[in-house]
Amino acid sequence: MHVVRPAQRGRGRVGEGVLSVTAGQRGSGAASPTELLFADAGLGRRGGALYLGDVSLTDIAKEAGTPAYVYNAEAVRSRYRSLDHALGSLPHRICFAVKANSNLAILRILRDLGAGADIVSSGEMARALAAGFAPEQIVFSGVGKTAEELRSAVRAGIGHLNVESREELELVGCVAEAEAGQVRVGIRVNPDVTTETHPYISTGKSGIKFGVPTDQVVPAAEYILGHPRLELTTLAMHLGSQLVDTEPFRQGIGCLLDLVGRLRRAGVATLRVLDIGGGLGIRYSDERSLDPAEFADAVVPLLAPTGLKAYLEPGRFLVGSAGVLLTRVLYRKHSGGKEFVVVDAGMNDLVRPSHYQAYHEIVELVEQGRPPARVDVVGPVCETGDFLALDRTMPGLEAGDALAVLGAGAYGFVMASNYNSRPRPPEVIVDAGRWWVARPRESVEELYRAERLSP
Ligand code: LLP
Repeated sequence: MHVVRPAQRGRGRVGEGVLSVTAGQRGSGAASPTELLFADAGLGRRGGALYLGDVSLTDIAKEAGTPAYVYNAEAVRSRYRSLDHALGSLPHRICFAVKANSNLAILRILRDLGAGADIVSSGEMARALAAGFAPEQIVFSGVGKTAEELRSAVRAGIGHLNVESREELELVGCVAEAEAGQVRVGIRVNPDVTTETHPYISTGKSGIKFGVPTDQVVPAAEYILGHPRLELTTLAMHLGSQLVDTEPFRQGIGCLLDLVGRLRRAGVATLRVLDIGGGLGIRYSDERSLDPAEFADAVVPLLAPTGLKAYLEPGRFLVGSAGVLLTRVLYRKHSGGKEFVVVDAGMNDLVRPSHYQAYHEIVELVEQGRPPARVDVVGPVCETGDFLALDRTMPGLEAGDALAVLGAGAYGFVMASNYNSRPRPPEVIVDAGRWWVARPRESVEELYRAERLSP
């Protein structure tokens, strides 16, 4: 279970708290934490060198340069299949949350497996369509869709829109009339479920901006019922991200089931889908992750009797473990009694450590066997909060050493920025023993090409 750990042993600096593991939740079994992380990613060592999906990461680091994101296509496929298989005969659709990784090649891999897409902007819609998703396989979520975004979604004929407020619903009604189209609508409910995750990514509790409060759901449904161009097909929820416990899902689904009953009694006969959102947690360290079979055991018995189709919106679960960020040591420095390893990837490339105090395992591409040291692994960005790891025992590192930051396949590149005018890294895919640059490294010139010096 991920919680924000308070300051310990007098460490009270910026970024000191870490997304970490509570006692008693450590993975069991013989495999070491690193072995489990390697297995999730499809990583392995050959003669001390690190391979991802049968491709040498040292070769990729040399040819594509660092920093660089590398994703293992087969690891994505295996995650999708494990979840799909666990859900068994329950009628379901796994809609990949595009926000987690919107690279077209990744989207195409998931589309080819039969996934749908969960999007939150016109930009993500364009990407999903460009990757070949059929419009009806796309779910449009998000708390702040603009009128233009709603119009383009209606024109594209996407599967359904999950609305999050009465005002948005009325705007959808206007857009449907103006476009003279029939629009399938879902109501994203706020089921008021507490989740133990980082507060920034807990989304199912009352008092936060997401979802329609339960007491407003029936009135919203009645509005839809009375609107000639709207059809209520879906009740939806999304409880939060990086959940490793099934209990919140049970509670949230319980709330949706209660509402299904109330809606049916209110005369709604059009419900076809229960969308239970994403949030399935993965292993970043030695914590347990959400096992698909355990997840299915918890949710399928609740969902099956409804006769409705279950939609899931996992992002991180499908791609998080499948990606690494390659980086290289620029310098070592000793300052104020501390050891620093300065690397060429910063918070602009991977913001999770800095923004959520998230833990990402970091390993050498080639094991050098030097004695370990306790270090801060920091980036080149001009902020003290620019780090990949704090107070971490790492193998002895020297300038020029290449490293892989694990668990970087979700919310990595998509959250990268150009802060400090740093071009965003390339994205590389490895598949069937080959690799290719699915998105090249940005150039500095691209960053300012559209800027004008004067009116
Ligand atoms: N559906 C909706 C409506 C969402 O808001 C999200 C994530 C998902 C699905 C997918 O959640 P997942 O299965 O990936 O947990 N940047 C943060 C995570 C933000 C998640 C936002 N919403 C991080 O790096 O941890």
